[in-house]
Amino acid sequence: LVKAVILVGGPEKGTRFRPLSLDTPKPLFPVGGVPMIQHHIEACCKIPELKEILLVGYFQPNEHWAQFVTTQAKLNNVVIRYLQEFAALGTAGCIYHFRDQILNGSPESIVLMNGDVCADFQLDAMLAFHRQQDRPVLTLMGTEAVHSQSVHFGCIVENKLTHQVKHYVEKPESYVSSLINCGVYILSPEIFNIIATTIKAKTMDDLSEDFSTLSNSSSRRVSRQRSLSGASVSETLSLENDLITRLAVTGGAYVYYTQGWWSQIKTAGAAIYANRHCLKLYHNAHPSWLAQSEKGKAGPQIIGDVFIHESAKIHPSAVIGPNVSILSHVEIGAGTRIRDSIILNDVVIDENCCILNSILGWGSRIGSWSRIEGTPNDPNPDKAFAKLEHMPLFSDSGFLNPSVTILGAKVNVPSELMVLNSIVLPNKDLSHSYKNQIIL
Ligand code: GTP
Repeated sequence: LVKAVILVGGPEKGTRFRPLSLDTPKPLFPVGGVPMIQHHIEACCKIPELKEILLVGYFQPNEHWAQFVTTQAKLNNVVIRYLQEFAALGTAGCIYHFRDQILNGSPESIVLMNGDVCADFQLDAMLAFHRQQDRPVLTLMGTEAVHSQSVHFGCIVENKLTHQVKHYVEKPESYVSSLINCGVYILSPEIFNIIATTIKAKTMDDLSEDFSTLSNSSSRRVSRQRSLSGASVSETLSLENDLITRLAVTGGAYVYYTQGWWSQIKTAGAAIYANRHCLKLYHNAHPSWLAQSEKGKAGPQIIGDVFIHESAKIHPSAVIGPNVSILSHVEIGAGTRIRDSIILNDVVIDENCCILNSILGWGSRIGSWSRIEGTPNDPNPDKAFAKLEHMPLFSDSGFLNPSVTILGAKVNVPSELMVLNSIVLPNKDLSHSYKNQIIL
């Protein structure tokens, strides 16, 4: 029996995803036309021995969330439950907190996935690899990155013969290895004993430090014991910093190397990049989800990979694609051109608009002859293994870095305006054109 746990975080996660995460929890943001974590669920459901999927997070579930969980459970004929932490317990602390529920039914292996990664998850092959190893506690999915970018990720040094992790550093200050952690793991139940020992060791460390500082300041002790989130320091535990580093010393951690596509989704720009790759994966996984220009039938011209929700109404003279997702109840007028963009539910775009490298938020309205355009920050195509850079919003000189254009929910752009490389917060009524600005 196999179980899966997907880490979905909470309200203070996904800040780099604003303003889009203001209106929906980031794990439900659509990539390839469906919520980000639906791809995780589908990948887990391909494991024949899978019995249950647990979504672990610390945000208050709303109606949208509850409906997503119910629909996915029905669609995939699997038990899916949301387990809510009282506070952010860290990537290992949260699974330890729910250990009884995870271990209920005695799973032989547990698939653990970060909710904010997107990939061609080959979980079956990874599980087979895990089972072949000598007393494995944890197998992590690894991929190659270019040297300069590797320091932004968890870096793995492996024994090339045994694939054992020899050394692991999360976001090192200088180069360690170009093999990086993808945030997808297979765990053996033994991991919970190791987490328990680590928590004990951490508590002892905390106590001894507290005794030594007690004479100096008792208030420091209190602030050490309670993290900002409200969980005690010894309850919060990071899989990457506290567990994998330890397993690298004691043994039991292995790396499964993937050559498949993989990316994190930390920013809206990353969602456009991931959208393009998800659509590409549909050629094998869901060919029927890709829109086609129908020969002999009046309909919009479709170029390359495009997802169009069945309820969307698109004028036959519009030209859509490549790399576009159009969600439910969107209306697109005559002569409009859209590429490399995500158009969220209920958006209305009038005639002859041009939408490039942009995300248009729920219920936004674009008047005729308007142009909404962003600048992609795709990985360097000339560098093998280059990953998407999660660029900071502002450059060192204080200017907004050119990036994809994002309109928050219910933004109104009147006719004949241009919005270039800008971020517009929800419910704004624009009165003129904007370039390289954040419109608050
Ligand atoms: P940064 O986002 O750059 O800090 O680094 P990272 O990629 O290492 O991400 P992080 O470890 O913060 O999160 C990885 C995944 O775990 C994301 O999907 C988060 O939403 C989720 N996550 C992180 N911390 C927690 C936690 O305390 N509880 C739960 N349930 N999920 C978490």
